[in-house]
Order: sequence, then C-alpha cells, then structure tokens
Amino acid sequence: MADRIVALDLGSADEALAMVDRLPDIEWAKVGPVLFVREGPAILRRLEQRNIKVFLDLKWYDIPTTVAGAAAVAADQGVDLATVHSLGGEEMLAAAVEASGAMKLVAVTVLTSYDPEAYWNTLGRDGVTELGPEVSRLAQLAVGAGVHGVVTSPLEVAAVRSAVGPDPWIVTPGIRPPEADADDQRRTADPASAVRAGATHLVVGRPITRAERPDEVYKRIRNEMRQAR
Ligand code: C5P
Repeated sequence: MADRIVALDLGSADEALAMVDRLPDIEWAKVGPVLFVREGPAILRRLEQRNIKVFLDLKWYDIPTTVAGAAAVAADQGVDLATVHSLGGEEMLAAAVEASGAMKLVAVTVLTSYDPEAYWNTLGRDGVTELGPEVSRLAQLAVGAGVHGVVTSPLEVAAVRSAVGPDPWIVTPGIRPPEADADDQRRTADPASAVRAGATHLVVGRPITRAERPDEVYKRIRNEMRQAR
C-alpha cells in the first residue's frame, strides 16, 4: 500500500500543528519553503515529537558541496525525506546522497509549471513538443546517481515507473479524490489511479487541509487507495 503525505501549506507552525492534531492517523507531513522559511527547523522537531515522518520539500539545486551540506544538516535534524533537483546533475545528486545518511532523497524532474516551449527555451533548444521523454530521462539519471526515487505528476507516473524499474519511490502531488475540487492543479489523478500507475507516496494538501473534517477526507483517501490493489 502506498503512503499518504499531507502537504502542510499553512501560514504558521500553530496552524500546521493544529491540522496534524486533527489527523490522528497521519504518518507523513510535507513542509515546504513558505512554512520552513517562516518557522525554521523548530517546525521539523515539533512534527517529529508527534512521531510524524517529515518530508522537507525545499528542492535543492546548487553546487554539490552546498547541496551535500544542506542534506547533512537536514539528516541531522531527523528529516526522513527531502527533495533535490535532477537538473543539478549527477555529481550534485551523488554528493547529496552520500551526505544524507539515513535520510532519503527524491529528485524533481521537470517542474510541472513548465510547458514544452518554455522548458526548451530555458535550455536553449527548440523543436521539441513533449516533456514526457525528458521527465523519464531525468528520472533515470537521478536514480542512476543513487537517489531513492523521484517526484512526478500523476500523469507521468506510469512512464517513469517503466523507466526506473520497480524499486524507486515515486512521489506524486496533484492528487484529487473524485469528489474534490482541482484548485489550481491541472494535471491531477485520483488516489486509486495514481497507485495503480505505480506511485508509492501520494502528496495531498488542500483536499485535506481545507476540508471541514480533514480526518474524514484523510480516511476516505486511504480507502480509495486500498481499492487500487
Ligand atoms: O494542495 P495540493 O494537494 O495541491 O498540494 C500539493 C503539494 O504538492 C503542494 O505542496 C505543492 O507545492 C506540491 N507540488 C505540486 N506540484 C508539483 C510539485 C510540488 O503540487 N509539481
């Protein structure tokens, strides 16, 4: 069974902790740049004290020494999982893996905010109309450099799974239960479809954090994931 990760995109540590306290079964929480920059590492410790696994999603992309240093510090703080950019290259990825100790790393491939034209303009190439092969190529590069898995949109999970084989983690945001609002997400899938395609970790934020009864939505998502088996 895949895991659920609740994205705590909330304004303060107090709000984030009030949310996790409403989710008695929560196993994983994702802390992104806004909450982390506001609250600092104290938020990580307060989640860990509640026995919640921490996914620190800061998408590191820098020279190898700097990324390795950040990974080592995060691992020391008890972070369980963190993100790096596959475009940082093999040397950066390998240095981060080496510095990570027990902490796992997953690599972002192509940001979902890119369309093909903007991506290839940024890279200085043209005439390419789809990003799917690029996502799979970067996923293979990152896994080859030793990361534990990749982050990808639900619509690319199946292709990435066939590119990287059965073992790497595939973490996917953009999850929307059938009855939920898409918000600003464009490339969504429901929990059962994402699991069937090969995802190991489903990141869900607003469908849970904006619900009147977050605990009920969280449970419903687990039940929907079970149906995928
Ligand atoms: O609220 P929602 O379920 O859309 O939250 C999804 C989470 O995953 C957010 O924290 C968002 O920043 C993150 N994310 C995403 N799409 C990506 C990468 C990360 O939605 N491509």
